[in-house]
Amino acid sequence: MRLDGTVAVVTGGTAGLGLATARRLVTAGAKVVLVGRTEAAGKAAAEELGPAAAFVAADVRVEEDVARAMDVAEELGPLRTLVCCAGGAHSKRVIGRRPMRLAEFTTVVETNLIGTFNAIRQALPRIMAQPLRGEERGVVVATSSIAAWDGQAGQSAYAASKAAVVGMTLPLARELAEHAIRVVTVAPGLFDTALLETVPPPVRDLLREQIPHPRRMGTPEEFASLVAHVVDNPMLNGETIRLDAALRMPVVL
Ligand SMILES: NC(=O)c1ccc[n+]([C@@H]2O[C@H](COP(=O)([O-])OP(=O)(O)OC[C@H]3O[C@@H](n4cnc5c(N)ncnc54)[C@H](O)[C@@H]3O)[C@@H](O)[C@H]2O)c1
Repeated sequence: MRLDGTVAVVTGGTAGLGLATARRLVTAGAKVVLVGRTEAAGKAAAEELGPAAAFVAADVRVEEDVARAMDVAEELGPLRTLVCCAGGAHSKRVIGRRPMRLAEFTTVVETNLIGTFNAIRQALPRIMAQPLRGEERGVVVATSSIAAWDGQAGQSAYAASKAAVVGMTLPLARELAEHAIRVVTVAPGLFDTALLETVPPPVRDLLREQIPHPRRMGTPEEFASLVAHVVDNPMLNGETIRLDAALRMPVVL
């Protein structure tokens, strides 16, 4: 689908993979609404992107927050693309001296799964209201993780939330087919963003050594490039694409 003259909402669009995606969508001619929680980061990102971007301070878990972001999108023009990048990792084991508390598990699931669903459900009526552009109305891209399949010890909450995003991709694509809206999920391996800064450098080095080829972290621009291709290619639908340089996380490091 061509993006010129259209609007995209990018959750988590103020940093990392989301910000790189927003830059890419703007280059392709879209206006973008950046959804994020941090005012300072959001304003800086919107300023960098110029008049094609607007920032809305919002928590994806909160219904009213996301509704405001969709309203801003509607003011900018026809919403046709949603990219869900907002998310966070919180690694903690279930047993041991400091076991994961129920509230911690819930927060991860609320952010990564419910937050993604909240953005999708509120974007859909706006995308469905658009006329066909060629053979489609719009595209939804969600972000999972290779942890959906290869989650390590301590990642039960994160892996469960990301596996659930994979799980809803096909049913959503099937449901939205009659409205000519595609749904695709990208499952990144290891990408160089703030998310990985929470991992101690020695562990990060060990992780990097597990990546077959190329033996390095992916760049946010490489993630953005795949999202742009997903939007562009009408045959991609109902699928989760691993973007991981053949990485399969080991059981232990
Ligand atoms: N970086 C990686 O290696 C990697 C690997 C696999 C999956 N992912 C996924 O990619 C997505 C983007 O991560 P990133 O690496 O760019 O990390 P990041 O920390 O740079 O960006 C995540 C963004 O989401 C925002 N966010 C978090 N919770 C939010 C909430 N409740 N409401 C609104 N915004 C919220 C953060 O403020 C931040 O701007 C995440 O879903 C993450 O799980 C990243």
